[in-house]
Parts: sequence; structure tokens; C-alpha cells
Amino acid sequence: MDSVYIRGGIALQGQVGIQGSKNAVLPVLAATLLADGTSVIENCPRLADVYHMQTLLKSLGCSVTREKDRLKVNTEGMNKLTALSADMPKEAVESMRSSIVLLGALLNRMGEVELAYPGGCVIGKRPIDIHIEALKQLQVHFEERSYGLHAYTKGMKGAEIRLAFPSVGATENLLLAAVGADGATVIRGAAKEPEIESLCGFLSACGADITGGGSSTILIQGKRKLSGAEFAIPGDRIVAGTYLCACLAAGGEVLLTKAPAAQMGAVKKVTKAMGALWQETDKGLYIQRGARLKTPGKLVTAPYPGFPTDMQSLFLPVLALAEGSSQVEERIFEDRFHIVPDLKLMGAKIEQTDKRKVRIEGTEQLSGARVEAKELRGGAALVIAGAAAKGETVVDGCGYIERGYENICRDLRELGVRIYGV
Ligand code: UD1
Repeated sequence: MDSVYIRGGIALQGQVGIQGSKNAVLPVLAATLLADGTSVIENCPRLADVYHMQTLLKSLGCSVTREKDRLKVNTEGMNKLTALSADMPKEAVESMRSSIVLLGALLNRMGEVELAYPGGCVIGKRPIDIHIEALKQLQVHFEERSYGLHAYTKGMKGAEIRLAFPSVGATENLLLAAVGADGATVIRGAAKEPEIESLCGFLSACGADITGGGSSTILIQGKRKLSGAEFAIPGDRIVAGTYLCACLAAGGEVLLTKAPAAQMGAVKKVTKAMGALWQETDKGLYIQRGARLKTPGKLVTAPYPGFPTDMQSLFLPVLALAEGSSQVEERIFEDRFHIVPDLKLMGAKIEQTDKRKVRIEGTEQLSGARVEAKELRGGAALVIAGAAAKGETVVDGCGYIERGYENICRDLRELGVRIYGV
């Protein structure tokens, strides 16, 4: 899908099921490498990054089969030689940032790995220094090579590790490595994101001894025997947040089935403060927006349970249409306001006052325009703006959006948006 066409300005109405979480499924799939036998992972979204991970697991000798949203991974055919990058499909490693979690998993399983750098992206540099410093404390050695990194260990030993920042990726890598280390590992200052809880949940189901997943201190007793397990990936909190924002921007009422409302506390607080109705029902998360919303004032992104960085972009069109002035501060990534010029084209009164801050004066209406997605969540935010704007909006560059959404056009059509992709 290159471009999305939207005829906006119509209040939403309908219900849609929320796909499984992209950020939860990728580390869980990497973790299947650690378990003997077969793991069965339910509710895997159909996304390019998931297909890339399937390719990587296969290249390592695993058998991977998909039946609808269920993936079965059998690790019996794994072979140490294939952990060397020559045999790992380079495009799959380099095209997805989550390939970095293979570092911890393969060090654990093979003791050695050669991996291309996952690279930065348009929202910021995304370095991996915290991952490397933490793994070094488990007795992993690193050498820089022309293709990226060579990491090896003569046997990992548990350690007490304090992370300089609660990095989600670094916490995942450490967990994947530490379950294979000799003795106990304590991770202090760990990320508390729900995706960490999912990874700990899967590893525990396989037989790992982990306590404290989801809190800032995680304790791992290493070297337990891990056997394949069944695990269901929760709904994607950011996809649910996207359709929530579409409703907040365009008005109307939606029911988001399989939305992980319990993981969306910070977003719930802002939604209610702005004057929309948020109801957690047996059938799903029900949202209703009638009158024009009020600004929540200031939004500041923070590690979980704070306001998620991914939701920041998605709320920009909502704030652009709310009554009053808003300020948004991005504290996680250094360059996450690429959509400001496109929102201005659509009539938003938004100014970037600093690399990490924007100020918005709410306006009563946005108007359709031709705009371009430059990254995943910013692209989805332009689709939301289009759903709310009067007239026709065309969003080009939609390949980025497909990285996180199975089918954003189909889902929004279920909610009454006049939208199609070509
Ligand atoms: C981040 C989000 C996560 C979200 C994911 C996908 C946070 C804290 N993390 O996770 O919720 O699901 O993006 O969009 O909101 N950093 C370093 N060195 C490192 C690792 C990270 O400096 O070794 C910095 C990053 O540049 C960034 C911040 O720490 O500024 C957050 O990084 P991290 O949590 O690791 O990012 P992701 O795992 O991608």
C-alpha cells in the first residue's frame, strides 16, 4: 500500500477487534529459541516484522508454521553455525529494530553471535550502549566488526545490574541472556512496560525462574531447563490507542474489542480529562465523544506507566482539534515531531518550539490535504487527522504505517471511516 485516500469529517461508529501486540510478539518469538521442543504462540499479528522474525528463526534451523494467527516454533533443528551472520538474512536483521533481541537469545543458546547493527531511524538515534554494558556484566565480550558486532561468552554468570535508563530493549535482552546464566541475576532500574511482563510470562511458562517482571527490580535464577510452552500475545495497546484517537478527533462512538485497557492507564487519564467517555465493558473498550474536547494542558512522554511515546504522535491531531492550548514534550526520543509541517498543511495551529516540544492552539476544523508519512506512528496520526478533516486527504508513504498495523484501512472502515488504500 503506497497511499491512503480518506474522505473525512464523519463521526465514527462501529466496532473493531484489536490485533496482537507487535512489541510483545517479537521478543517472545526470540525467546522461543531458548526452549526445547515446540512453542505455540497465539494472536501473532500479520506484520512484516513478524514475518522477518519467522525468516530469522527458520534461518537458524527452527521449523516455523503458521495457522491463522497461531505460530508454532520447533527448535529441534537449531544449529550453532547458523548464528553467524553469513547465514542470517541481512535484510531481515537490518530492516527491523527488534532483531536486537536476538543478541541476548543467541548468546544464551549458542554462546556466540555475529549481528549487523539494527541501525537508527527517523525518530532518533536508538543506540544500544545500555544493552552492551549490561551484557558485559554477565561476562559477554564484544568486538566491533565491519558488519556490526561480534559477541561471545565462555559462559554467562549472573550479576547485579543497574540500568542507566529503563530501556525496554535492554531489559528484554538481559532477560533473554540471564535465564541462561549461571546463578542469580538482579536487574535494577528495569523497564516496566507490559511487553516485559509478556516476555517474563512466556519464559516462566517455559520453566524459567523469574520474579518481579513488570516492576523495576527483576530477579532471575538462571540455568533452568526451558521447554516449549503455549502463550497468547495480548492486544496491541498502541493500535487500540490509534482507533481511540480517531474517535476523539472525528467524534462518535466505538467499541474496541480485545483492547488491553488495563495497560492504557495514562491514555485513559488524558481521554477522560479531555471530556470523552471511557468505559471498560465485558465486550471491550467503549469510547464516546460528543461535544468538542477540552485540552488536557500539557502532555509529557515517559517510560511506562507514564504517557507512551508512541501515543504522543497519535494525540497531536486530537489536540489540534481540542479547545484551548496544549503543550507536548517528548522525553524518550529526540526527533519525534516530523508530522508538524503536514498537520499545518491540514490547518492545525501547531508550532515546534524546541527539538522536543510543540505548542498547539486548538482549531475547530482541519481540512483535507495531500501529506506524507515519514515513520510509523506519525503516519498513522496523519490518517487520524484525515479521518477528522473536512474533504479529501491523501497520505503517501504508507509502507511505514503497514509496519505496525495489519490493515488500518479495513479497521477504520469497520468504524465508519470512508478510507481506502492503493
Ligand atoms: C521504545 C519505548 C517503548 C516502545 C518502543 C517502540 C520507552 C521507554 N520505550 O522502546 O515503550 O514500545 O520504543 O516504539 O518509551 N537508549 C539508549 N541506549 C540504549 C537503549 C536505549 O540511549 O542502549 C535510549 C533510546 O535512544 C531512547 C530511550 O533510551 O531515547 C528509550 O529506549 P528503549 O526503551 O530501549 O527503546 P525501545 O526498546 O525501542
